[in-house]
Amino acid sequence: IDELLTEGVAGRRVFVRADLNVPLDGTTITDDGRIRAVLPTVAKLAEAGARVVVASHLGRPKGAPDPAFSLAPAAARLGELLGSDVAFATDTVGDSARATVAGLTDGQVAVLENLRFNAGETSKDDAERGAFADRLAELADVYVGDGFGAVHRKHASVYDLPARLPHYAGYLIATEVGVLKKLTTDVKRPYAVVLGGAKVSDKLGVIDHLLEKADRILIGGGMVFTFLAAQGHEVGASLLQEDQIPVVKEYIERAKERGVEFVLPVDVLVAGEFPDMKTKAPAHPATVAADAIPAGQMGLDIGPESRKLYASKLADTATVFWNGPMGVFEHPDYAEGTRAVAQALIDSPAFTVVGGGDSAAAVRILGFDENAFGHISTGGGASLEYLEGKTLPGLAALEG
Ligand code: 3PG
Repeated sequence: IDELLTEGVAGRRVFVRADLNVPLDGTTITDDGRIRAVLPTVAKLAEAGARVVVASHLGRPKGAPDPAFSLAPAAARLGELLGSDVAFATDTVGDSARATVAGLTDGQVAVLENLRFNAGETSKDDAERGAFADRLAELADVYVGDGFGAVHRKHASVYDLPARLPHYAGYLIATEVGVLKKLTTDVKRPYAVVLGGAKVSDKLGVIDHLLEKADRILIGGGMVFTFLAAQGHEVGASLLQEDQIPVVKEYIERAKERGVEFVLPVDVLVAGEFPDMKTKAPAHPATVAADAIPAGQMGLDIGPESRKLYASKLADTATVFWNGPMGVFEHPDYAEGTRAVAQALIDSPAFTVVGGGDSAAAVRILGFDENAFGHISTGGGASLEYLEGKTLPGLAALEG
């Protein structure tokens, strides 16, 4: 946006597509990382006298207003962080939005209500998305894309709106792309990737791609059990994607051929049931060998030996990319695996990139200093799809 700032933005209505999709506990924001990440762009535009219209999605409402997904808490937090009054429109393109934007003075910031309260935002139908983008375009003179976490979505505000207005990339997108480009072009070796999260089916594309790029792939989270099952082990009541077993077997074979090391846990924490996430009552997990999970028990975190193993596999690396928690880290009994990986990244001399809404939130929620990591990406799906080498609609739109 430096080009835009040089041109001058005073008095112009600048639409900033941010990703304010923050984790909420009721109306309390449990991690405001994504709001802080867009501050440089919003503050700079406001300082330069722009009338800044910030828009974002939050969660996955069903194309209609739903108070549980209101952006009001995020707007309030943005105001606190900016140290100025931020106006809030209670709709996205309706009377409130129009009046709020019309009432902006130079240098003032407004936040629109959740873009996904409108079916046109996420529609697969080009015309429906286009019609919604037309309405958004009426609210602004210029578009700044800075919602890195959503650039992999072909949504109206991400993809169709920039085509309707002069468009620029914000500071966050520029930084994120700069870092991820390093991982895809001149990555320093050994290059280790730690992949966690619940479902292996969400990570197939990136594993496929990483088998050509990475030296070591460490697996954690619910995905572990599909890998263990692919090696012929019983996984009890653990999360298992049976239909993915053949794909995982093929990956294990390909990894062997290419000399890529897959690292799986050697022990896991198990319990008979999923912990109560509301009360966070003690779950009393047992530690068992990963190849001896008893029937009826589910694995919920990697075990103590695995923590040591993973730390040792990260100690001598030059680059690490980490996406996805190792266990149900929001519960204190299952946070140690994720904590150990975060600590190993901090202790390692490697350039470390934490990718993903969940893992980024995890390191902050667990109390780590975010400056101790090379880069914490605000994008989960977006950073994975970037690493897969896919064309991301929101980046393509800014280049066009
Ligand atoms: C994310 O949380 O990864 C982004 O905000 C995108 O959200 P989505 O997966 O609901 O599109």
